[in-house]
Amino acid sequence: VVICSESRGAQAGLYKRRAWFPLRVMPAFQFLPFSALLGTVGFLCVTFVSFWTQHWRGGFAWDRSAKVFNWHPVFMVTGLVVLYGAAVLVYRVPRSWTGPKLPWKLLHAALTLAVFVLVVLGLVAVFQYHGKSIANMYSLHSWLGLAAVLLCSCQWLMGFAAFLLPWSPAWLRLLYKPIHVFFGSTILALSMAASISGINEKLFFSLTNKTIPYERLPPEAWFANSLGMLILVFGLLVLWALATPAWKRPESELLEAQQ
Ligand code: HEM
Repeated sequence: VVICSESRGAQAGLYKRRAWFPLRVMPAFQFLPFSALLGTVGFLCVTFVSFWTQHWRGGFAWDRSAKVFNWHPVFMVTGLVVLYGAAVLVYRVPRSWTGPKLPWKLLHAALTLAVFVLVVLGLVAVFQYHGKSIANMYSLHSWLGLAAVLLCSCQWLMGFAAFLLPWSPAWLRLLYKPIHVFFGSTILALSMAASISGINEKLFFSLTNKTIPYERLPPEAWFANSLGMLILVFGLLVLWALATPAWKRPESELLEAQQ
């Protein structure tokens, strides 16, 4: 009995301490300033990748020239990092917490479909540039990138089947949702890894000893390295927002399975 009451006392003390110092809860930032910061970093990612390819890599064309490659980083960073980041945060917007979920589901599906279109264009650009003369799919970057693209495509199809088809059963939605959430973050992490390794690879290819060596850190290297850091910051901010409990849509599992 003594042990029991002691352990109860200890538990009560623990709860008391938690109330004062909630160790298990992530600190919550203000949603609006956080969103403004996220939007700014996302905008900088798109601006930096476009400026890099336009200013230092010769600009854009959709023909057989080397310029076709430059669409690849622009479409990939804009699509699979920035737009994808916005798409996964749709349910964190407080306005989505009340009322029917369907319009937000449709927005989420439409944004991720737009991501898919950009990704296909980005892949066509790099494969067209490689043609038959440059080897395909040999680098770690290309493997990471393809893994991200394949997972993203499966995620869209599975999400559509489970959450948008009206005849999909409630048990399937409940079972699949945590898997969908897990792979949502995984795809973003893979896209960050693919983008950063792609930037690094392109710099090693372009800043050879014949031009200005990478190790001398010319302005282009500074700029493109900074782009890689911006992509890292953007991705971490999105992952932080996804993991913040205070920004999750409050709903019961039963209601969620029905919506
Ligand atoms: C999420 C973003 C990205 C994905 C999914 C991705 C995917 C891919 C894939 C699948 C390939 C292989 C194409 C082939 O073998 O013909 C490739 C090639 C390439 N990518 Fe990316 N990429 C991404 C971002 C970037 C970025 C930001 C750059 C920066 C310049 C870049 C640079 C390259 C380069 C230089 C190649 C050709 C060499 C190689 O195959 O590794 N990529 N990418």
